[in-house]
Amino acid sequence: QDRLKAFGKDSDFAPKHVHVIGAGVMGGDIAAVCAAKGMTVTLQDQSVERIAPAIKRAAEFYAKRYRGDKKQVRFALDRLIADPQGAGVAQADVIIEAIFENLEVKQKVFADVEARAKPDAVIATNTSSLKLEDIAATFRNPSRLVGIHFFNPVPKMPLVEVVTAENSDADAAKKAAAFVRKIDKLPLPVKSAPGFLVNAVLGPYLLEAMRCVDEGIAPEAVDAAALAFGMPMGPIELADTVGLDIAMAAGKGLTGAAEPPKKLAELMAAGNLGKKSGKGFYTWVNGKPQKSQ
Ligand code: NAI
Repeated sequence: QDRLKAFGKDSDFAPKHVHVIGAGVMGGDIAAVCAAKGMTVTLQDQSVERIAPAIKRAAEFYAKRYRGDKKQVRFALDRLIADPQGAGVAQADVIIEAIFENLEVKQKVFADVEARAKPDAVIATNTSSLKLEDIAATFRNPSRLVGIHFFNPVPKMPLVEVVTAENSDADAAKKAAAFVRKIDKLPLPVKSAPGFLVNAVLGPYLLEAMRCVDEGIAPEAVDAAALAFGMPMGPIELADTVGLDIAMAAGKGLTGAAEPPKKLAELMAAGNLGKKSGKGFYTWVNGKPQKSQ
């Protein structure tokens, strides 16, 4: 609690407009959650075609959450605006990047963001595994960048890590934490270190679970054991949900393992990345895991 207080619980930052770049698994859901809280959200991706599925997913999420209350669904959907050109960057109070986990692509996107953002806007990355310092290396003012690291699935996960590097601007971090509270989530201040806090613990756990699968234990059995232990979701289902590419990228630097688990490598080579591609350790139908392969 003291660490949370250190982030300025009473900051009066009241963001009205959030711009999200990347309408994939994370960006789409971050945008949906912010719009449901009454913020104007512009959602940018490479094309309208890439944004449309995120808006469709948001509509389904709102319909479920508001149990068919059309007024509330409309309220949220009206605030969620497809913005393929990224016009929202110039007006937003908070800008969150959630594009592919690729340093050069992120740096390119941030060059544009830094040039056009309001001087007092929070500029944040949702990266899981890249170093904040590396992403900020091409900034004119590297202290502006903070991490706002959400967990998947965003609507369900209350924790958000607010990541700072040695030279990060303290005010930007405070504003980021205030933003996280405004969307009713819990900001956890962490330093820019491999895996931050949660993934540093989760990485080895997921890796061991996958090694059990390699040793011949069915994913269902591994997950059932974790559930019986009290985990809300089994580790194999979690890896599929997060996306095997993301889990692999995040796990790589954390576990020190020379070789990825065999089954994971096979699935990745076949392009089976988990829930988002319909197949991973499990086959996925209507967002639910079916039997393992
Ligand atoms: P994703 O692959 O589902 O979505 C990425 C999106 O970025 C795609 O829609 C792509 O078209 C878009 N994109 C790529 N380059 C772009 C550009 N130059 N301009 C605009 N849009 C661009 O990826 P996902 O899983 O949503 O991950 C995004 C970020 O969030 C990564 O940095 C990842 O490390 C991080 N993250 C992912 C988590 C997960 O569970 N999947 C959890 C926490 C963080």
